[in-house]
Amino acid sequence: MKRIYLDNAATTPISDEVFEAMLPFLKEQFGNPSSTHAEGRTARAAVEKSRRNIARLIAASPSEIFFTSGGTEANNTALKGSVRDLGVKRIISSPIEHACVKNSIAALVRDEAIRFDLVKIDHFGRVDLNHLESLLSEDSKTLVTLMHSNNEIGTLNNIVAIANLCKQKGAYFHTDSVQTLGYYDINTLNIPIHFLSGSAHKLHGPKGIGFLYVNKNIHIAPLIDGGGQERSLRSGTENVPGIIGFGKAVEIAEKEMLDWKNYISSLKQYFMDELLKFFPEKVSFNGDVYGDSHCKVLSVNFDTPVPAEMLLFKLDLAGISASGGSACSSGAMKASAVISALGVPSHLKTVRFSFSHYLSNGEIDFTLEKLKEIIR
Ligand SMILES: Cc1ncc(COP(=O)(O)O)c(C=O)c1O
Repeated sequence: MKRIYLDNAATTPISDEVFEAMLPFLKEQFGNPSSTHAEGRTARAAVEKSRRNIARLIAASPSEIFFTSGGTEANNTALKGSVRDLGVKRIISSPIEHACVKNSIAALVRDEAIRFDLVKIDHFGRVDLNHLESLLSEDSKTLVTLMHSNNEIGTLNNIVAIANLCKQKGAYFHTDSVQTLGYYDINTLNIPIHFLSGSAHKLHGPKGIGFLYVNKNIHIAPLIDGGGQERSLRSGTENVPGIIGFGKAVEIAEKEMLDWKNYISSLKQYFMDELLKFFPEKVSFNGDVYGDSHCKVLSVNFDTPVPAEMLLFKLDLAGISASGGSACSSGAMKASAVISALGVPSHLKTVRFSFSHYLSNGEIDFTLEKLKEIIR
């Protein structure tokens, strides 16, 4: 059975070009980038080319890009580094950040006694800028960490406005752009930002590789000490194939961004229209679906007696992969903090469908047909 993958916010399939680019670095080009001989120099040159690709995508300088093991590590480094090395005493964040941000903050509150304030969000999950401004009026060394796009509902924050507000109030700003890198323009020259996190596996690159952008005027110490790789911010022999794959994924995304966005948006719109046609009384959407929302994410509430797990299970049996509005990080279903924070009534069953340019209209039609059979 051919499967239909509608979980591209969880991860994306690696593209053929990325795979091809990585292959030599898994075999013949096995050098350690720190070695000075030919093998090492080849690996170093390829790593630095990837760094330049990533820097170019966000208009940063290559020296501001630090490779990490993914978005989780990048977010941990930004938050923990700011408290430890920049004198941050207070963090402002939202109730719908990714677990790696939430749990890093929880650790900092517990271990470093930092203060923590939640900024209000509206019913789309978007940050309330007036509330942020009032929170920032307090005189305390503050880091604001707010995601560019939410991974469960796709709501996009205006990170330019947030960054400007932080600048005006003298706060540091970090954004988790794991879901938006390669899909939306991010220009660090126009955004007064201190930290930004990205991850390759959300844009058809490999898993286990990400980066942290650290503004050149900021200096934080490493969380991982060792041989001094990544200009001593992140020691450990580089994940060379991963870095090469990331660089290639970014190079492709830079070229294809607009076409992907247009195509994926049209799939999402079609899916929404058809769902409303099929289930006028049973369907509602989370987030700003008619406004500023990530083209690849659609969070749907179904008013059905079918339990959410059963719904996902039946879709899975039909060859369709989607995910719940529930955190399922260790296989166990828990109520999603994001969906709860939006005040979605608990009797509704939330499913996240997330798209990629690999999907066809026919696959969307097939999914709709199966939903017609499953939803009562
Ligand atoms: C918004 C967001 N931040 C961070 C992460 C973590 O990234 P990684 O899987 O690369 O550690 C994810 C992944 O699901 C995400 O969606």
